[in-house]
Amino acid sequence: MVDSIYRTRSLGVAAEGLPDQYADGRAARVWQLYIGDTRSRTAEYKNWLVSLLRSQRCRTVLDVACGTGVDSIMLVEEGFQVTSVDASDKMLKYALKERWNRRKEEAFDDWVIEEANWLTLSQDLQKPGEGFDAVICLGNSFAHLPDFKGDQGVHKQALKNIASMVRPGGIFVIDHRNYDYILKTGCAPPGKNIYYKSDLTKDITTSVLLVNNKPNMVTLDYTLQVPPEGKDGNPELSQFRLSYYPHLLEPFTELLKNAVQGPCEHTVLGDFKPYKPDQQYDPCYFIHVVKKTG
Ligand SMILES: C[S@@+](CC[C@H](N)C(=O)[O-])C[C@H]1O[C@@H](n2cnc3c(N)ncnc32)[C@H](O)[C@@H]1O
Repeated sequence: MVDSIYRTRSLGVAAEGLPDQYADGRAARVWQLYIGDTRSRTAEYKNWLVSLLRSQRCRTVLDVACGTGVDSIMLVEEGFQVTSVDASDKMLKYALKERWNRRKEEAFDDWVIEEANWLTLSQDLQKPGEGFDAVICLGNSFAHLPDFKGDQGVHKQALKNIASMVRPGGIFVIDHRNYDYILKTGCAPPGKNIYYKSDLTKDITTSVLLVNNKPNMVTLDYTLQVPPEGKDGNPELSQFRLSYYPHLLEPFTELLKNAVQGPCEHTVLGDFKPYKPDQQYDPCYFIHVVKKTG
C-alpha cells in the first residue's frame, strides 16, 4: 500500500550527513509523487531563478542538492551548463533516468551528474578551473544536515566546501524555511509552497526537539492526498516525516559569510522578494544570495 511505502518514523542518519530517508529511497519515491516533474515548479520560482542567473551572467551552474533533478532539468532546458550532485543515489536515479531518456538532446547529453556529499565535496567533485559561475542549494535542502555535536561544526565544513565551488565574481544561492517563525509560533507560516505547484499536501504537523534547552531539530510530518490509481480507485492519505536543523536567519547569515572566506555581497529574500526585518508579511522561505566580490 502507498501508505506503508511512504510512512517513515526514523530519524537516523545513514551515510555521513545524509538522513536515512534519502539513503534508502523512501524520500525519492515521495519526491516523485510530491513534485513530479519540472512542470510542477511555480512560474514565480522559475522566473526568479532564471532571471537571477542571467542577470549575473552565469553560464555554468552547480546544483549541490539536485535530488531527483527537478531544478537541474529546468536549468538545462533554459540553456545553462549544469552539473548536478547529491549524496543519495536513490534520488539521483531519477535524474539519471531523465538524462538517459533525453540523451539525444545536446543539452541533456552535456548534463553532468555525480554522487557527492557536501562534507567531502572537494574529493567527490572536480572543480572546473576557478569554479562555477553559480552554485545553488535550494528546496530547504541544507537544513537536512543535522548538527551531530551541537557545535555546528558539520554545517561550517559543508558550507565552506560548497562555497569553495563558486568562482570569484560568482554567486551562491541557498535557502531555508523560516525557522525563526516556526520556533516562535510552533508551526510553519501559512501559505502555498513557493516552489511546487503540487496541491497534494493536506496537512503539515510541526514538532520541535530541544537538546540542552536549545532547538536542535524540527520535524515536519506531511500528510498527502494521493490520487487514485486507475479510474475506479479512491484517493488515499499518505504520511511521511522529514527532519531539519532549524537555521535562524541571523546566525545562518553569519555562517554563510564566514564560509565564503573573502569579500562578498549578501542579500536576503523572503519568498523571492527583497526582505526587510520589520515587514508585515512572514515569508515561508528565506533565500540567501551571496556574490563573491573578491
Ligand atoms: C529536500 S531534497 C531537495 C532536492 C531538490 N533541490 C528539490 O528541491 O527538489 C534535499 C536533497 O539534499 C540531499 N542531501 C542531504 N544531505 C546531503 C549531503 N550531506 N550531501 C549531499 N546531498 C545531501 C538529499 O539527498 C536530497 O536529495
